[in-house]
Amino acid sequence: MTVQTDTQPDPTRKIIEECKRETQIRYKSKGNTFFRARMRGVNSIQVGKSKIIDSPLTITLEWIFQKYRRLRKAQRRFAAELFPRHPELPVGHRDSRLVGRIVFAGDRGQGPPIHNLHLEFWGRTHWFAWRKISEGRTDAKGCFALPFPLRAARNLSMRSLSLEIQKTTRVYFKDDGDDAPHFHFDLFKAIPVAKSDLIGLDYNLRTIPLDYWLYDPSAVTPRAVVDNSESPETYSQGREDALIEQIIPLEITKIKHLKQIELAPDTLTIEDIENDYPLNLTRCIEKRLSGYTRGDDWFGERMMNGMNRGSFVPDAARPGHYWIRYFGVCWYDINDLYALPDVAILFKLKDDGLPIPLEIRLTGKLSRSDHDPFHTRVFSPADGDAWLQAKRVARVTGAFCTEVEEHFAGTHLNTEQYAVAAYRNLRLNPVAGLLLPHLKEVSLINHTADKELIGGYIPTATALTRAGLQQRTRDILGLQDWRGWRPMEAISPAHTCAKAESLFWDVLGKYVDEFFRRHEDGIKRHWGEIQRFADDLVTHSVPVFLTAPQDAVRPRYRELAAERLNYYSQQYEFDPHLPRETIHGELKTVSRITTASTYGAAPPLDWQNLKQACRYIIMQATYMHTWINEHQYDDLGEVRYSCGGLRFGDRPSGIMAPESDNDIAPDLTRSTQMLWFTNFLSRTEYGFITRNEERDVNPLLIRLLKERCEEFKALEVDIEAIESRTNI
Ligand SMILES: [Fe+2]
Repeated sequence: MTVQTDTQPDPTRKIIEECKRETQIRYKSKGNTFFRARMRGVNSIQVGKSKIIDSPLTITLEWIFQKYRRLRKAQRRFAAELFPRHPELPVGHRDSRLVGRIVFAGDRGQGPPIHNLHLEFWGRTHWFAWRKISEGRTDAKGCFALPFPLRAARNLSMRSLSLEIQKTTRVYFKDDGDDAPHFHFDLFKAIPVAKSDLIGLDYNLRTIPLDYWLYDPSAVTPRAVVDNSESPETYSQGREDALIEQIIPLEITKIKHLKQIELAPDTLTIEDIENDYPLNLTRCIEKRLSGYTRGDDWFGERMMNGMNRGSFVPDAARPGHYWIRYFGVCWYDINDLYALPDVAILFKLKDDGLPIPLEIRLTGKLSRSDHDPFHTRVFSPADGDAWLQAKRVARVTGAFCTEVEEHFAGTHLNTEQYAVAAYRNLRLNPVAGLLLPHLKEVSLINHTADKELIGGYIPTATALTRAGLQQRTRDILGLQDWRGWRPMEAISPAHTCAKAESLFWDVLGKYVDEFFRRHEDGIKRHWGEIQRFADDLVTHSVPVFLTAPQDAVRPRYRELAAERLNYYSQQYEFDPHLPRETIHGELKTVSRITTASTYGAAPPLDWQNLKQACRYIIMQATYMHTWINEHQYDDLGEVRYSCGGLRFGDRPSGIMAPESDNDIAPDLTRSTQMLWFTNFLSRTEYGFITRNEERDVNPLLIRLLKERCEEFKALEVDIEAIESRTNI
């Protein structure tokens, strides 16, 4: 059923708005009860059966363990109060020095130097009192020389000595509304120093390699080394708690389904599975307005303002007509179970500014018996059932591309490359206070995604294999650059998604400008850190899309490759013609912010480069990620409506079949896993800009955002739901 929005705004819009309100996720704590099932942490989450703790005995043991951990923490706090670390340095002639050099651990133990690391030289007396002997930091070459009085270190009362290397663990802002960032340091590594070895002059600790925010040499994109035993960062307790609290009911539902599928699959249907999860937007509308979500109006509205936030390319010949493209399997590694054809959709703008589809072109295999990957079929509203089926195929390819390309590559992987470079290099420069709150935890959630999404669910629920997904996400990262990026342009007054994006970009522009104005001196004084940051970004950047040798790109695909580059350039606001650096034969995607090691040597443009890069990084890590993440549940919360992949089935019609055909729909296991994933990802958000749960968001950004609250509300964006970081 097609319902014209422009002729009946009232009852239909009313139902849509009511359903949006009814299914809107509210992030509230449900409180705690002793025997509530629980999990140990984010790492316990699995697409199969997560490690859930539900037996009363285990819960009690876990409770005892938690109490023990708390007691240990309290004991440490008590010891710290009992034996305070006074900051005063000893008096006396500083006749000795502790010297050495700190580098990132490399393949052969010699990575690049680590600059501006804060170091403290401490002694502990026989009665456990702390005595600070010296402090300082590494220089640009990673070298340090901490002067100290030999007598203070060799004092008879001194029992042990150690060099402590500190790391920045978090940024915070004080409650008084002051917008100056403060840094919290924690001990990263303590190196014992033998008292008897100190004999005067210099004591050389030589080169110290640190496993500190290392790049993962086995990853195909710039990633941090994260393993469960040693991670460069950890989740905050609040983040862990919020996730675990929300996921338990979903986890129990999924486990129940998996058990039922194992024991009596005939007793379960896709509809049963859906009914066990919370109601989502499309199912809510369907209940009250049957057929509407399969109609042309809803299709156009969601392609424009839904999770997909489609990129509308004007049709050269027809004003008011636009094309959206989703690229299917292309030349990536695929399985033979799922279809993923290319999709091109022609839209016309209606009088109300929303798009309505006129034509859908599907190119590629639609059934097992198809063998020509370049065969195109054209569908229009006159095709009846085939038109409905073509729209479903378009939704599915669109959902796949949005999740894999825009969500995972465009926000998660993109943000992580900035996170690694920032944590490795920004310590004294105020830009650390600007960026780090928005970059934390992304390395951790990406590590979980590698295991459960890229290596787990997606290869079993879509056409691409794990290798195919890795190739594809690396290619898409080759289109993400800060230089020249700007938000999507609205093509009509109803293009609220693009308008809200511009509004947030505007807020960030004002925020970054003001931050740079207030911290101008510090940013200029510690410009060397910006150069190192820029160096790491460019050196580790992936190559520009399709510029690396692609053995798999056969001549027939070259035209497709050109079409992809052309379309993606608009979608990701990427200019492939900008001058970029070539390193070891690779044309690097991320533009260089600066080559100068001092501000005085930098051309004026570099100041603008840094501002644009900061604005872009915060934009991707906050707003762009939030948009897709929270709308997953709206647009991927009904299995037959949309999913990551339709199966070919065994009939010649393949995926061009009704929604009721269980042979092409996701199977029961994939159905419950999909709903579990979309609910889990959308419902467990934590770390919102305005809530500022961890006092790590700059009050200035909160104020600027709140000032525009009504404008966002008019565009259906709740500023309270915008995350401050990509951590789910
Ligand atoms: Fe996400």
